[in-house]
Amino acid sequence: MDVGSVTKKRDIALAELAAAENTAAIEAVRVRYLGRNGLIPALMKDLKNVAPAERPAVGREINAFKKTFTDLLAERTAGQAATRPPATASGRLMFDSSLPGVWRQPGTRHPVNRVIEDVVDIFSNLGFTVADGPDIETEYHNFDALNTPADHPSRDIQDTFWLDDKYLLRTQTSPVQIRVMERQKPPVRVIAPGRCYRRDATDATHSANFHQVEGLYVDDNVSMADLKGDIAYFARRLMGPGVKVRFRPHFFPFTEPSVEYDFSCHRCNGKGCRLCKNSGWIEISGAGMVHPRVFSAVGYDPDTVRGYAFGMGIERIAMIKYGIEDIRLLYENDVRLLEQLIG
Ligand code: PHE
Repeated sequence: MDVGSVTKKRDIALAELAAAENTAAIEAVRVRYLGRNGLIPALMKDLKNVAPAERPAVGREINAFKKTFTDLLAERTAGQAATRPPATASGRLMFDSSLPGVWRQPGTRHPVNRVIEDVVDIFSNLGFTVADGPDIETEYHNFDALNTPADHPSRDIQDTFWLDDKYLLRTQTSPVQIRVMERQKPPVRVIAPGRCYRRDATDATHSANFHQVEGLYVDDNVSMADLKGDIAYFARRLMGPGVKVRFRPHFFPFTEPSVEYDFSCHRCNGKGCRLCKNSGWIEISGAGMVHPRVFSAVGYDPDTVRGYAFGMGIERIAMIKYGIEDIRLLYENDVRLLEQLIG
């Protein structure tokens, strides 16, 4: 035996292994070369008969033979396993239908997401499409273009997370109104859900990070009656057919006139209960007719376009709709809360 003869045997062995067509053939080749009476163990045994000067080289060649053969064997075996058909007579996978099933807890949608999806769904029926804007806003989009005076308290460092003297975390989704109108000519009909940030101390009804949905409808003849009708339609679809809407005068820098709107309490039908603090009404959010200065800021002609805008706090609606009394429950991700809302 010399190095050359071992190499020749190796080549034959690898060719045979490569040509083996199925699991049984691969196994036969394996036994022939690696089995107890196989060729490779025999070569190793025979090594002692090789002249001492050549022994190390021949030994190395036998080891290399064994390694390449074993590697190829592993590769071929893995390939076979992947394509092996199920081991039943009919070729179909069998299972024991008398075994108990494995219960898997189904996932549930988070109340905040549910409300966002509901709002988007309902306003889509009115022809609104979804718009988006950045969480990191410029002072211009969050305040200036929305006609918010330079000394307005909401700009205060106590209310707004300022990143530097120009950028901030948006305190409302209203800057999306500006971004949409900057991009697009009227008519505009968009709904914009998103995160907002305010420097509020966390308590049962406040969180420094919350969600709003903004609505904006601009055309040449939009009126307060459209706002009322659309919000009333929305309220009925979201909370139930008997829910009424009430508007109260209010002030926002970017709408004129401005209102706050309430829904009649869906729990007591307006009679008065703990949820509505016995008033029969639940405060939802703000709205109004888009201020002419906002139109001017985005390059629209305030004399020819009219529009309404509204905002609403998603957490607030989720809490009212699902009877959740503490806003913190929405962020603690306690699965027991989510489990109650399956479906
Ligand atoms: N952005 C206002 C807020 O956060 C809500 C609002 C939106 C009011 C649009 C009027 C029009 O309170």
